[in-house]
Amino acid sequence: MSNHDLAVIVLAAGKGTRLRSSLAKVLHRAGGRTLVEQIVRACEPLKARETIVVVGHQAEHVARVVEPLGAATVLQQPQNGTGHAVQVAKRALGRAKFALVLPGDAPLIRTEALKALIATHRNGNAAATILSAVVADPSGYGRVVRKSETASSIVEESQLTDEQREINEINSAIYCFTLEKLWPALAEVKPNNKHREVYLTDAIAAMSGKGETVLAEVAADSREVLGCNTRADLAEVDRIFRERKRNALMDSGVTIQLPETVLIDPDVTAGEDTVIEAGVQLLGKTKLGARSSVKTGSVLVDAVVGDDVKIEPHCLVVESRLEDGVTIGPFARLRTGTHVKRGGRIGNFVETKKAVIGEGAKVPHLTYLGDAKVGAKSNIGAGTITCNYDGFQKHPTTIGKGVFIGSDSVLVAPVHIGDHAYVAAGSTITENVPDDSLGIGRGRQVNKPGWASRKRRELAAQQPPGKSSRHTSKKSRRREKKRR
Ligand code: UD1
Ligand code: CA
Repeated sequence: MSNHDLAVIVLAAGKGTRLRSSLAKVLHRAGGRTLVEQIVRACEPLKARETIVVVGHQAEHVARVVEPLGAATVLQQPQNGTGHAVQVAKRALGRAKFALVLPGDAPLIRTEALKALIATHRNGNAAATILSAVVADPSGYGRVVRKSETASSIVEESQLTDEQREINEINSAIYCFTLEKLWPALAEVKPNNKHREVYLTDAIAAMSGKGETVLAEVAADSREVLGCNTRADLAEVDRIFRERKRNALMDSGVTIQLPETVLIDPDVTAGEDTVIEAGVQLLGKTKLGARSSVKTGSVLVDAVVGDDVKIEPHCLVVESRLEDGVTIGPFARLRTGTHVKRGGRIGNFVETKKAVIGEGAKVPHLTYLGDAKVGAKSNIGAGTITCNYDGFQKHPTTIGKGVFIGSDSVLVAPVHIGDHAYVAAGSTITENVPDDSLGIGRGRQVNKPGWASRKRRELAAQQPPGKSSRHTSKKSRRREKKRR
């Protein structure tokens, strides 16, 4: 069905006092996105003629989130309640006949439920259709008061009679309105509550009182209408989003062990037969290929990972690319700009930053490579360090192909190691090493025969007589005793 006659209005001006936060409520995150972004995205497939977000608290910040999604914003200042917010939105409305109104803090709503609500409203020729939900614990929500098939009013928690308190059908604060019926009803609403606010919910009773049709459509899944008023609500909503994302990946052929321990952001993708172990986090725009594995405790942020890649336990990979057949970790830290080419290997306690590791090259242990290029099939020995920073600037290190860097080498950048060259273990390399050469940069070793026993005798002779020291052996102390 086309929705060219429908406007979407998202109410996102409130502060969210109950969160006790300096950040406006709709900017808090659940499921890897801000609450308001989740809602605007859920509305996108409806293809409404316009989406208007009512902003107030941290208006500019909220606008920066929703405007790139194609929404327009309108400022509500001061925030005199949800009814007032809709009145303010009127200024920005074009020639829509219907409005879908949503709160900025109920992010779990899915497009399908919105489509069903709109269909009920259109088919019922209603003035208003409320999306309601039947829940076990209705406390904190407005209650839907019905007269048979239609709704007569919504009563806020603070204004409930004892009898109404028993009603377990709640108002989700998502509604579809026929605008020519809404405006006159809203104009009659008075701020008759302790907050002196104009409640949108009071427009329901006004419409019903005029004999207009007000429907309430019960949501198929009551979890979709959960609002986020407290930190506990946020945690619960986040949990549900994460579960949805994991289920979607599992449906597409990804194995996830102990799923409830795994956190995956909404834009993450993964190929068939990839295995994600317990306690893993896949964040940002991370993409995993097929048949790869991410083992326990690893965290990937904006990482692009190919097929058949092994990420051993406890790796941190940020803005980096791992081509097919790469292995990293355990305990590897790949910082921004790392690119490990096909079949490359990075082992334990290796840190890389802006580093390209060539095809089949190995960096097996205890190494720092920063601003570095390593050619194909080169081997970087344990303890190799690129000195890329001189306190003022960063400098590059380039290592050719088939190079062997001996353990504990220090490569002082800028420096180049030619193809098939060797660097002797323990070298400090300050000058380029040409192709096929051996670079050694260390003091020469000298062995002095008999030096050790001479030294011991010399030290023993310096001891005052009769006084034993830590350096004198038990045997020599006994000898000393006998002599006396
Ligand atoms: C609201 C409903 C309640 C419903 C519940 C569902 C009203 C009066 N009550 O209560 O019946 O059960 O949602 O979650 O509507 N906002 C503005 N401008 C304002 C005031 C609020 O834009 O002046 C926005 C808020 O940013 C928020 C949304 O409207 O995103 C809802 O406001 P909130 O204060 O959370 O309403 P609830 O008390 O939860
Ligand atoms: Ca709310």
